[in-house]
Amino acid sequence: MLVLGIETSCDETASAVVENGRKILSNIVATQMEVHSKYGGVVPELASRHHIQNIVTVIQKSLDDASVTLADIDCIAVTQGPGLVGSLLIGISTAKAISYIMGLPLIGVNHIEGHIYSNILVHNELIPPFISLVVSGGHTDLIYVGNGKREYEKLGQTMDDAAGEAFDKVAKLLELGYPGGPIIDRLSKEGNPNAIKFPRPYVWNHSLNFSFSGLKTSILNYLIREKSEGNKINKADVCASFQSAVVDVLIEKSLRACEMKNVNTIAIAGGVAANSALRAGFVQRCQEAGYKLFYPPLVLCTDNAAMIAGVSYHLMNDKMPLMLDFDAVKEFASL
Ligand code: KG4
Ligand code: ZN
Repeated sequence: MLVLGIETSCDETASAVVENGRKILSNIVATQMEVHSKYGGVVPELASRHHIQNIVTVIQKSLDDASVTLADIDCIAVTQGPGLVGSLLIGISTAKAISYIMGLPLIGVNHIEGHIYSNILVHNELIPPFISLVVSGGHTDLIYVGNGKREYEKLGQTMDDAAGEAFDKVAKLLELGYPGGPIIDRLSKEGNPNAIKFPRPYVWNHSLNFSFSGLKTSILNYLIREKSEGNKINKADVCASFQSAVVDVLIEKSLRACEMKNVNTIAIAGGVAANSALRAGFVQRCQEAGYKLFYPPLVLCTDNAAMIAGVSYHLMNDKMPLMLDFDAVKEFASL
């Protein structure tokens, strides 16, 4: 079965062709990084406009790269949420039009389920139950993936900023550019993670929830204090120390989730899963604990449509009641 996947939940216009839920024939991502970088974050209205400009070209390229035409496609999959409403609407309207014209089934896919699936897409040996840590610009979720059909249980989530959002906001405070995650990741390699002792918010809290906005504030306070005392800021040290605080909390809580659910496998996903310190930390802690660790290749960490197409293959096969029918689209569009 050939699925054409479409993803426009945030600032990436993405389209992919995936065969039988696993084989990626093409995976095109048009990023809007440059558009949003001068604002230090995604501007929803601009994101929607750029999705409109790019979507047809991106879809055509994904078909060309896979050496197929729309006539070869068996099903259309599109991200139905969560995400920016205006951005989602562009992908959904386009998917709906293609599905209507070509007479193809249309499946709405949950974006977070897509991120979880990005590991299953490339790791045949990843078998539930496992704990998935989805860390991106919009989400920080700890999810138990059971071995029932699409059995998910959310164990924890952020109470305020998402982990990626914290990276982006701290980079903005340090005037480093956008998106902050990759920049902080790079600069941290030149800094000392023990230079400044930033708090590890919520780490010993009994719940598996997260909170990153206080950490961001303590970095702001640190910068104000140092500047007022006339001290020179070592940005690499600030980055490395901040990153180390985020990484510590994410790893600690993920391991605790494993203990709680009595599983020995962790799969990390989402844009922040590209972080080199997070990966290295997880590798070490999982080795010590005897846990199996999975993470996707970098291109599947950040938003992409291959993960969306992958999920829909299973929704189709399981005949799950998640078909995005026209009434659902109408309801969605009226939000
Ligand atoms: O999954 P994604 O592409 O979009 C959302 O669904 O939000 O994630 C984007 C987020 C941004 O906040 C970005 O700064 C962060 O992922 N990110 C990273 C790294 N690469 C991307 N954060 C930390 N380290 C990285 N290497
Ligand atoms: Zn995402």
